[in-house]
Amino acid sequence: MKLIFATHNQNKIEELKKLVPSHFSILSLTDINCHKEIEETGSTLEENATIKANFIKYKYGLHCFSDDSGLEIDALNGAPGVYSARYASEAKNNEENIKKVWEKLKGNPNTKAQFRTVIAASFDKNIQLFEGIVKGNIIFEKRGQGGFGYDPIFIPESYNKTFAELGDTIKNTISHRALATQNFLNGLNQLKKS
Ligand code: IMP
Repeated sequence: MKLIFATHNQNKIEELKKLVPSHFSILSLTDINCHKEIEETGSTLEENATIKANFIKYKYGLHCFSDDSGLEIDALNGAPGVYSARYASEAKNNEENIKKVWEKLKGNPNTKAQFRTVIAASFDKNIQLFEGIVKGNIIFEKRGQGGFGYDPIFIPESYNKTFAELGDTIKNTISHRALATQNFLNGLNQLKKS
């Protein structure tokens, strides 16, 4: 079965291809000749993931799924959340985003935060949502060279290193994206059985 992953991000495509059973063939937006950047106009991760999945469903009539992720900080009422990529400005600059988090927190002792991923899948007439969450804490210095985004300032629970220090192998087993993907794959397996 062909499944469209509504993304232009080739890294995400390659990562997923390694995880799904071989009877699913994963195609990117580029693979189906869709060169449009689907606008993320929702105000929640769920809405944005659904917008992207619906776009492919209605325009191309294909089985598809999409994802949206963000960092949710307790003391900031869940911000930056759905606006994580462009928290400081539309420039989507990681350094500026991290500085803004620190400014907003101003050394607040409540450093609890979580990364959350939502995957929206369109297998039939309904959209199904799958979630993955990793809880942790924000720190007020940058540690580690790996990863991207907010990785250098996020320490997952039960660890004493940031995502940027832990490296991809560990991050890819405990991350929000890995957990959401696992839930999604369980959903795909159910589909195969039904
Ligand atoms: P996306 O939906 O996967 O593109 O993620 C949106 C934004 O959330 C990214 O641009 C990052 O700022 C932030 N983000 C999502 N996942 C991660 C992660 O694993 N590490 C660090 N930042 C992340």
